[in-house]
Amino acid sequence: MREATKIIRSTLTRTAPGEPLHPGPVFAAPYHAPGDPSAIPYTYARSHNPTWTHLEKSLAQIESGEGYRATALVFASGMAACTAVFGAILRPGDIAVLPANAYYAARVLAQEYFAQMGIRLRLTPTANNAQLQHLEGAKLLWIETPSNPTMDVCDIALLSEAAHRAGAIVAVDNTTPTALGQSPLALGADLSVASDTKSMTGHSDILLGHVAVRDLELRQKIDQWRTLTGGILGPMEAWLALRSIATLPLRLERSCLNAQSIAEFLATRPEVETVLYPGLPTHPGHAIAKKQMRYYGPVLSFILRDKAAAETFLAQSKLLTDATSFGGITSTAERRARWGGDQIAEGFIRLSAGCEAIEDLLEDIAQALDATR
Ligand SMILES: Cc1ncc(COP(=O)(O)O)c(C=O)c1O
Repeated sequence: MREATKIIRSTLTRTAPGEPLHPGPVFAAPYHAPGDPSAIPYTYARSHNPTWTHLEKSLAQIESGEGYRATALVFASGMAACTAVFGAILRPGDIAVLPANAYYAARVLAQEYFAQMGIRLRLTPTANNAQLQHLEGAKLLWIETPSNPTMDVCDIALLSEAAHRAGAIVAVDNTTPTALGQSPLALGADLSVASDTKSMTGHSDILLGHVAVRDLELRQKIDQWRTLTGGILGPMEAWLALRSIATLPLRLERSCLNAQSIAEFLATRPEVETVLYPGLPTHPGHAIAKKQMRYYGPVLSFILRDKAAAETFLAQSKLLTDATSFGGITSTAERRARWGGDQIAEGFIRLSAGCEAIEDLLEDIAQALDATR
């Protein structure tokens, strides 16, 4: 079955007369649970909930591929999913290899908390597969490709193979492409981690994260982390996610086409110093991206002359909503340096292409660029 069909059908309930096509949310804290709790699927909702189960089955189908089956665990946010992987795997003295340009909150979490508890961090760039040189003795290799917001790319299959030879577990933060755009588990990673706040759900109305994994022992540790730490998502969010996921193929295809057209257009404009998008043949990671991605993603970055030019561009645009986050059905953009924390220029803009008509987006971007002259 092709990916789009698999995803669209993944949120349906089992075929049984009288059963609704889609499950409703189950609101419960405790469940009826007499006797031996190990024989009962649901006892207390901090551990498991039937609406999570539906969502996890859908995500597991999306993350599974030729010859392997994934399981998935859902979290209250992408950061909760990242934290669960760090917390379940790393112990004092362990070495974790992280991208120096990883999503900044994951980096800060690793530096300000896990490193303080005795985890040894090796921060190295994503580009040019630089992590390859730092795998010796590592327990965890954390990959983010394309990286947010600099859009650097590395080779997941190559790095996973080398990391496994070195005895490390490999986790990929797959947020920007989603599991439809890129399949880390098929490329050899052990864990596929994502913020589903972005394209996976795509309506800018919920926070959500998940971890997909093949190994059941690893799954058990991450599941236990979630139950013990308890920052779980509610059934309403899980249900909203189920409604949204079925349209992922439609939304992602359209937004990635729009991102490609916008990147190509920006590359022709004299006001733009650099365009960073793996779908451009001029991008240094294009060949790798072409090999390992189904779609190049809805996110691109570009650099204008300075802070003032970037602010004028954003103020002048009518169709790029000035907001953080990405992967929504509505196009958004922001001057990324306003947050600090990333090594980027003051005129650096991260743009998330939505699903609007491309002609309108290009017209709007053209007039906003004109205003920066
Ligand atoms: C690459 C990446 N990973 C993780 C996260 C964290 O996700 P959340 O905001 O859902 O916690 C983000 C959020 O922007 C992200 O861009």
